[in-house]
Amino acid sequence: MSATVVVGCQWGDEGKGKLTDLLAREMQMVVRYQGGHNAGHTVVVNGRTFALQLLPSGVLYHHVTPVIGNGVVVDPKVLLEEMAALTAAGVDCSRLVVSGGAHLIMPYHQELDALTERYLGRNKLGTTKRGIGPAYADKSARVGIRVQDLLDPKIFREKLDVVLKEKNLILAKVYNRLPLSASDIADRYLDEYAPKLAPFIGDTVGLIGDALAAGHDVLLEGAQATFLDLDHGTYPFVTSSNPVAGGACVGAGIGPLSVTSVIGVAKAYVTRVGSGPFVTELHDETGDLLVERGREYGTNTGRRRRTGWLDAVMLRQAARLNSLSELALTKLDVLDTFETLKVCVAYESEGRRYDRMPYHQTVLHKATPVYEELPGWQADTSAATELHHLPAAAKDYVHFVSEQCGVPIKLVGVGPGRDQFVRFAS
Ligand code: IMP
Repeated sequence: MSATVVVGCQWGDEGKGKLTDLLAREMQMVVRYQGGHNAGHTVVVNGRTFALQLLPSGVLYHHVTPVIGNGVVVDPKVLLEEMAALTAAGVDCSRLVVSGGAHLIMPYHQELDALTERYLGRNKLGTTKRGIGPAYADKSARVGIRVQDLLDPKIFREKLDVVLKEKNLILAKVYNRLPLSASDIADRYLDEYAPKLAPFIGDTVGLIGDALAAGHDVLLEGAQATFLDLDHGTYPFVTSSNPVAGGACVGAGIGPLSVTSVIGVAKAYVTRVGSGPFVTELHDETGDLLVERGREYGTNTGRRRRTGWLDAVMLRQAARLNSLSELALTKLDVLDTFETLKVCVAYESEGRRYDRMPYHQTVLHKATPVYEELPGWQADTSAATELHHLPAAAKDYVHFVSEQCGVPIKLVGVGPGRDQFVRFAS
């Protein structure tokens, strides 16, 4: 029995999709455990780019059962479109199983997400406006509508009628918007989406439990990342779910002792989309170069990502929060042209040094990075497939990061292709 969690260690977009795709070769099941179509996993297969939003990366393999767990929020329209696009590209999606316990993203979630952001003005969170936060808020408030409700039209309509009354009041009285029609929504969800999704809805807790009991290898694929975690991220500039490894147990419905390893994924530098503190952020041409070389634009929203030097304080915290067994460092090739590189080893704020992530966010907002400078390698690493292909300075950089966070780095990404990885034994 083996359950491996893949978790992002920064603010998302670390290349989890690519790593999951690589690991999925050895797995029988890949499970998404939180988030929704705010995620954007890019996988390049045979030169073709697939941008997955909701489907687990394992869907691209015939031998893998892809599962959308109970912790995910599902926009059925997006899921069906994604399945149709992949099917048209020759990918078989028929093995997909969607948890009946997953919550549905409804049209009012998306509308309220955008309206709340506008209402917050300069304090906005910079959400993806996909309705993620409002859908999880309804789940917590116990007025959410679940995937299984699609199979019971009477219950679906009853729940929708109750919740829409309140949503329409908010839309009309707070935001001066037109009310939404319950029957229009119900017709679309029940007549259009439900028949198409019904064959895929199932008991994923039972399915995953059986797979583990049968000794199968299960991969739990996190979306977003540790510092976007609702509890452990840079609140309120976070997503509304728990990407940390502990969230995998809740969002897939397995016990913690079932998890056998946790693989963290971090970029060789840092990026962030949306608002919130970012201690090593670069506002100069070095930052622009990282954007340009790393093609740092959102997979999903096209937004330019903020960029900065690697932050070891974050990685230490990620190691602690996720019980990382190992780390994969991605996009090392983006650093190929730099003469020198910086790694943040501690923060400083008001004369005090912080080796550990300060618990108080005000400190984080004021913190400045304490850097160690390392020599660059100024050589193309993108064709490296073996450790000895990498320049000594590149290996030193990887070892330094590993030492700083106390976690072995076993894989290093050197390009977007499925096989552009170097195996390391640090
Ligand atoms: P939400 O998840 O759409 O509510 O957005 C909340 C925050 O998480 C915003 O700063 C988003 O930019 C960020 N976010 C959500 N999903 C991703 C992702 O997949 N990669 C990077 N950032 C994300």
